[in-house]
Amino acid sequence: MIADKKYCFFNDEELLVITSIIKNRYGIDFTGYEKKSLRRSFARIMGKCRMDTKKQLLDAILGEDRSFLNSINDLTVNRTELFRNPELWETLEQDILQRLKFKQDINVWHAGCSSGEEVYSMALVLEKSNLLHKTKTLATDISTKALARAKAGKYSSTLISRYEKSLQKYQPQGQIEDLFHIDNHLATIRDQYKSHIEFKYHNLVSDSAQEKFDIIFCRNVMLYFDDPLKLTVIERLKNALKDNGFLILGYYDVLPENADQHLIQYNNSIQIFQAKTDSVIEVEMDNRLIEFNKISA
Ligand SMILES: C[S@@+](CC[C@H](N)C(=O)[O-])C[C@H]1O[C@@H](n2cnc3c(N)ncnc32)[C@H](O)[C@@H]1O
Repeated sequence: MIADKKYCFFNDEELLVITSIIKNRYGIDFTGYEKKSLRRSFARIMGKCRMDTKKQLLDAILGEDRSFLNSINDLTVNRTELFRNPELWETLEQDILQRLKFKQDINVWHAGCSSGEEVYSMALVLEKSNLLHKTKTLATDISTKALARAKAGKYSSTLISRYEKSLQKYQPQGQIEDLFHIDNHLATIRDQYKSHIEFKYHNLVSDSAQEKFDIIFCRNVMLYFDDPLKLTVIERLKNALKDNGFLILGYYDVLPENADQHLIQYNNSIQIFQAKTDSVIEVEMDNRLIEFNKISA
């Protein structure tokens, strides 16, 4: 392996060696992640840990070096927002939750929840729809650092107040204080928005889901996966949906070509999908066969 961090470029074979060792040693599977994104992440870790050569990185991984262990979290991109894409939350309230509101209980999974902003956005939507009391939410991630932040529900108030505009696009009268208690520079999520949530480590690449859900969010997580890995994860998510459940992906999540064997589009513009099941109705329109899932009342 070659020297000099500035010109450090991991070739495909080196990436495979490193990710395979990480998988065997630490149980975290990055082998199907986008190579470009992994290269950037390893360069970031080397910079942070002041490593100059690839050999140093390899030694740290093999030696289970503490600074490397702390950096595993840096292999993922944790950027998230409160009320990201305001029209999604409006559709959830006015359409999706209207379909689910008569159920005895509602199960929601945020797969790749990062530091929790998306989870707490949904909590406010559920509360506004008077459904929070019968909702159980699972919020998972592979980044233990992000999960700890999500669970604590404490953020910088400056950061959180940046999202007030997004909240108000969804709910014009809404204020950050509806969701957070603000004290000095700290915004702490109000207790009533937390009690229905279980935060848990879960790796979408290697772990299957133990329950079924009415709504699964997996937004901006698969951006870093290659197509075969995306397909595996999509099948896993589809299998975790209840009948007529909804899968919500990110705006920039591009599905691999054959994802349509598992999913059908429910709302094209905001990336809401349903599982493709046997109960699909085919309707002929303009000499084309269009598929619809049978939606029960
Ligand atoms: C860009 S954030 C998206 C957060 C949130 N869903 C949103 O859209 O605002 C991506 C998250 O996916 C998590 N992630 C990446 N690979 C994962 C995997 N294999 N299993 C579970 N989570 C993963 C990352 O740790 C990160 O927190």
